[in-house]
Amino acid sequence: MYVAPSILSADFGNLSNEIKAVCEAGADLIHVDVMDGHFVPNLTIGPLVVKAAKQASTKPLDIHLMVENIPFFVDLFLPLQPKFLSFHIEEEKHPLRLISHIRDNGVSPAIVLNPHTPISTLKHIIQEVDMVLLMSVNPGFGGQKFIPSVIEKIKELKELIYKTNSTCMIEVDGGVNGLNISELDEAGADIVVAGNYIFSSNDYAESIKALKL
Ligand code: DX5
Ligand code: ZN
Repeated sequence: MYVAPSILSADFGNLSNEIKAVCEAGADLIHVDVMDGHFVPNLTIGPLVVKAAKQASTKPLDIHLMVENIPFFVDLFLPLQPKFLSFHIEEEKHPLRLISHIRDNGVSPAIVLNPHTPISTLKHIIQEVDMVLLMSVNPGFGGQKFIPSVIEKIKELKELIYKTNSTCMIEVDGGVNGLNISELDEAGADIVVAGNYIFSSNDYAESIKALKL
């Protein structure tokens, strides 16, 4: 299991040290939540701060866009060359065009599904993306309660990946902790995002280790 700490729950007054600490504690990726105050009722950070986050990090960035007008934000963040750049399928009319654009710029494209969005929506997309991020909370805030129906969605997505011979990875984001990690692992998750569970703990290495099954 790969672990991507979400800096949404980090101390932003001490961001570079927080990022360095989770990198040293065993993080595989640094998850960055970009929110525009329109697609979700919260507003976070833009490329200036994400650039500083990248400089502090020894691990690749995993940028999760929760925004309207996705192509505009994609072009703002592509120059930062994250490992993954993901956007919500619910908000994009031409996802395949945008996926190609991201890939052409040397970044792995990823699609995000809200908790209510069915896996069937991915049928004609799955072979074009490197990762699918399944939300296990309603996007917008850290520290929310895990929505258990994501477990069935992971299994269904795993089946679709298998059937289509895709190499796409499955990431789960929201309410991940030491209690639900085994279930996520058994269902087929490859990467978990965790904000509150890691950053509210006293020992980042210990909490990351608890998620690495
Ligand atoms: C929610 C974000 C998550 C959030 C996860 O909209 O996409 O990445 O930071 O935080 P926790 O792990 O606290 O639910
Ligand atoms: Zn996220």
